Amino acid sequence: MPKTLRRLIYCSRNAIPGDAVAAERTIQDIVLASRRHNRVAGLTGALMFTHGCFVQALEGPRDALEDVFERIQCDERHRDVTVLTFEPVAERAFSGWDMEYLGDAETAGSQAAAAATLNGAFRQEARSADSVLALMRGVVAREKVWAGV
Ligand SMILES: Cc1cc2nc3c(=O)[nH]c(=O)nc-3n(C[C@H](O)[C@H](O)[C@H](O)COP(=O)(O)O)c2cc1C
Repeated sequence: MPKTLRRLIYCSRNAIPGDAVAAERTIQDIVLASRRHNRVAGLTGALMFTHGCFVQALEGPRDALEDVFERIQCDERHRDVTVLTFEPVAERAFSGWDMEYLGDAETAGSQAAAAATLNGAFRQEARSADSVLALMRGVVAREKVWAGV
């Protein structure tokens, strides 16, 4: 019997020391390390960085999610880690992505929506996990159209 698939979504605030260039470089390292680990652990997902905040969706088997989140939560490069959902799901939303990165360039067309969604998320408003997921999926879908895939 296949293990139950779960999805975890959280938001957090950037705590990387230094300027925007340092943050960009560090986030690149985080994304590369995440792709390496997540591929081995059977995890997929997306990481959004906008308005000085992270939003991450991670999906996969429960054990693997708990392991990675233990590390992520203790990571001092972000703070105010706020879990929006950790629930069983029927299918992956980011299948094929070890960790898709959505930074400011990618979210350019959704800046206002991203700001509103983030505000609601840190206040843990009802349905904020759904709003975050819809925002991320929308950006990924637009990216695919631009890339012609
Ligand atoms: C915002 C954020 C998102 C992260 N996402 C992941 C992730 O999806 N997978 C992962 O393995 N590590 C992720 N990390 C990094 C972990 O916290 C940790 O540094 C890393 O897993 C340790 O890797 P290492 O033992 O190879 O140095 C993330 C860190 C931050 C700050």
